[in-house]
Amino acid sequence: MSFLRNCWQVAAFGDELAEAPLPRRLCGEEILLYRASTGAIVAMHDMCPHRLVPLSLGQRRGDTIECGYHGLCFGPDGACVKIPGQEVIPAAARVHTYPTIERFGMVWIWLGEADLADPALLPDLHWTEDPGWTTGTGYLHFAANYKLVTDNLLDLSHETYIHGNTIGNGHDQSIAQYPVTATTEHGRLVRAHREMPAIAPPPFFAMLLAHHGKVEQIDRWQSAVYLPPGINMTDVGVYPVGTPRTQAVMLRVLHLLTPETELSTHYFWSMCRNAGLGDADLTARSNLAVDATFNEDRAMLEAQQRNVCAHPHTALPGIAVRVDAAPLHARRLLAALIDAEHANPRAVAAPVPLGTDGPPMLAQAAE
Ligand code: FES
Ligand SMILES: [Fe+2]
Repeated sequence: MSFLRNCWQVAAFGDELAEAPLPRRLCGEEILLYRASTGAIVAMHDMCPHRLVPLSLGQRRGDTIECGYHGLCFGPDGACVKIPGQEVIPAAARVHTYPTIERFGMVWIWLGEADLADPALLPDLHWTEDPGWTTGTGYLHFAANYKLVTDNLLDLSHETYIHGNTIGNGHDQSIAQYPVTATTEHGRLVRAHREMPAIAPPPFFAMLLAHHGKVEQIDRWQSAVYLPPGINMTDVGVYPVGTPRTQAVMLRVLHLLTPETELSTHYFWSMCRNAGLGDADLTARSNLAVDATFNEDRAMLEAQQRNVCAHPHTALPGIAVRVDAAPLHARRLLAALIDAEHANPRAVAAPVPLGTDGPPMLAQAAE
């Protein structure tokens, strides 16, 4: 399996973790997550070092995990603290634990070299906790490789065909007609930007712009941003034609992908908006629309993964077309980072900012 390990990846939403331990496979590793009484998040290998059974089949006792087979207990630091029937606890009796940090409403895990796990290496997702933005969240499980999901997120031309009922324009204003500028920035991030002036508002955006009354035409921008291995953001702005771009309704849609296996992905999402702040009803309606939209992607990508498995020697894309530019940038960048980590297991790629709080400048968009 080829996953980048020296990076923070999302393991769970913070509110998923309470008293009951949560088993979750991340990058092929079985992990057991729970919140200790101190509030700290514990992430330990979900395998007893005695006879290799899953610790998740055991019980939580206070802040320790009691194995369900012979009752050995392990503390939050992984050290064995009790062996039934004997006093002496061998130093080797310990289960591996992983660095974690809780930020932006999410629990992040570091699966690589533990001493490199620096909180300063977290990506900046401040929109999730900024009072100028309101956030809705959700989770989906995709039976598809995370790179297929990234391809999808970096080529939004699919909105016309997959998402006609929510965020896509119809064939007469198909997304692919509007030129996209794909760039790799700082050797670390891919950005694919397009402007769509004077288009009909798709249903989801009509909902977000309802405070303007009935809107016939909008100007829209969309930037798909990718910070490997798993941080994606769709930076979207919409505003009625003739109104200032600086007053656009903006979305920062975070798609945080953590591989489960080579063939499956944990998809955590947060949609941050700068309008309708604190409007719980709008958040609920938006969440339903986003969940429906991403399930449309899921159906397509899971079908794609089945075909990829059935035809493992067929290159992707089989036919390269113009809209593949950003996904190809991303594949190259991810492969380079994974190669660098293989060559040097202590290599770390520091994150760079995904974007700003305001609209992208039109001059840049025209490049
Ligand atoms: S297998 Fe866990 S205590 Fe024996
Ligand atoms: Fe989609």
